[in-house]
This record gives sequence, C-alpha cells and structure tokens, in this order.
Amino acid sequence: MKRDLLTILDLTRGEIEALLARARELKALHQKGQDPTPLKGKTLAMIFDKPSTRTRVSFEAGMAQLGGASIYLAPGQTQLARNEPVADTARVLSRYVDGVVIRTFAHATAEELARHASIPVINGLTDSHHPCQVLSDLMTIQEHFQDLSALKVAWVGDGNNMANSWITAALHLDFALYLACPEGYEPDAALLKQAQQLGRRIHLGRNPREAVQDAQVINTDVWASMGQEAEAAARKKVFQPYQVNAALLQLARPEAIVLHCLPAHREEEITSEVLDGPQSAAWDQAENRLHFQKALLEWLLG
Ligand code: CP
Ligand code: NVA
Repeated sequence: MKRDLLTILDLTRGEIEALLARARELKALHQKGQDPTPLKGKTLAMIFDKPSTRTRVSFEAGMAQLGGASIYLAPGQTQLARNEPVADTARVLSRYVDGVVIRTFAHATAEELARHASIPVINGLTDSHHPCQVLSDLMTIQEHFQDLSALKVAWVGDGNNMANSWITAALHLDFALYLACPEGYEPDAALLKQAQQLGRRIHLGRNPREAVQDAQVINTDVWASMGQEAEAAARKKVFQPYQVNAALLQLARPEAIVLHCLPAHREEEITSEVLDGPQSAAWDQAENRLHFQKALLEWLLG
C-alpha cells in the first residue's frame, strides 16, 4: 500500500526514528561522495502553488543524487490553474510518475490529492503543516543533543504551520514543547487538545521568556506566512515582543541552539546578531532538508 506524508501523524515513532537514522547515514555518504542511487528510473512531480527556495532545491537535488528525476510544476503552470480538478490531476500524475510533492494553501488540497493518487504524496508545506521541515529539524537537533526526551524545545511567535508540525512531532516523541504565541495567533486547537488528552508535555503560553527559560532549542519563524502578506503590517505590531534576540537567548541554556526554517525577516522575528551568531544552527538546518528528504524519498518511492 502506498504511504503519504501529509502530517507527521502519518508516521509512527519507529518510522521517524528509522528515517532520522537513515538521513544521518545518507549525509555521511554524501560527504564522502558516495551517494547511493536507489531511485534510478523513478520520477518525482512537484506541484508548487507558493514560492520556495529550500524545499524545491532540496527535493530536486535529492532526487538527482538518488539517481532519479524530478519535474517542477510552477505556481499557475498546470491545468489546475484552469480548474482541472485536483482528483483528476492525481489520477493522471499517478500514471506518469512515482511520487508527488505538493506545496499549496489549503491542507485539504493536499489531502484530496493524496486520496486520489495511487502514488505517495508528500506535503511540501500547506497553510497548516510543514512536516518535512520539522522532521529534518529533528535531525539537526540530534546533531547537537543525544537524548531528545531530555530537551525543552521552545517555539516563539506565530502559531502557524511550523508550530502545528512541532506539536505533531511532540505528540510522537518525548521532548517538552513550550510555545509562546500572542492571543489570536495560537496553533491548531484540536492538536493541542489531543496533546492534553495524551498527557504530552506541550505548553501554550503568551510569554516568550517563559518558553525560552532553560530551553535547549529555540525556534521561530516569520510573523506573516506566505498568503498572509495583507496582514503583515498588523502582525508586525502584535508580534514585536516575540522577537528572538540576544536578550531572550540569554535566558536559554548556554548550549542552546536557535532554529529558523528560513526565509527569515531579519530584525523582525529574529535579529541578525542571533541568526548569524554562534548559537544559530539555521544553516545546518537548511542543509539537513536535503539529507532527511532523501531518506524519505528512498523509503516512499524506493
Ligand atoms: N523552509 C522552507 O520551506 O523554505 P522554502 O520556502 O524556501 O522552501
Ligand atoms: N510559516 C512559513 C514557513 C516558510 C517555510 C510560511 O508558511 O510562509
């Protein structure tokens, strides 16, 4: 049976751990110039309704390194833009290629594609989730800390797609997740409820200092995500107290790392001093998208 990755909840804890282990192996092999090519003859289609640098390039480069090919379908350049149904697109792509990545607005669009495709569908970001990013961020965290369950991970800022994906990660794995989000900008209430029912260590508050206090991992993201450009000015006012800067970082553990999925709006949600500073892991974080997604592609398409 084909498998999809629409949210991290599509994976078991064991599958996440196996993918992270394989991603580490693939990274080491890549660094030695020894990429395996298990996807020879396989093709990945990539439907993008929003812009992308990292997701697009890491998936395309990853497919090439694994011996496969990819087809980038730019925003507005398929018949979807002329109202061909998502279900029909799913049926047709399933006849040509071995997997699809979709980056789109409504999460329901990715779900519909997956429902009608007979090939694996990977969420390359929707308004609600960004699973590939958070899974590869776990790889980056493992490069700094052995035991995930001993960690306090902080999320500071918008309760957006990334925040939701962090909650799904914390539903499966044992770290403590402290989110600080302004009122009206909280993550998915149903996910939070699930976390509560399962007794997970997931806390939502308003105070960034509380979230960051003694944390080993500090995460932030833009205040206005793709598609929210019209709200950017209003959000900038609300989110000002949520900037990740040197003063906030002082409250974290001395060995803490700072993550940002990028692109960053420097001097808004994060200062350049922090993003370019010694505790920033953002560039390794961007690199690890490649290695983690190769493990994912090998597993789903291989
Ligand atoms: N982090 C991330 O998904 O970046 P892109 O929007 O450049 O793909
Ligand atoms: N929350 C951001 C993430 C970008 C990778 C957005 O959706 O635009």
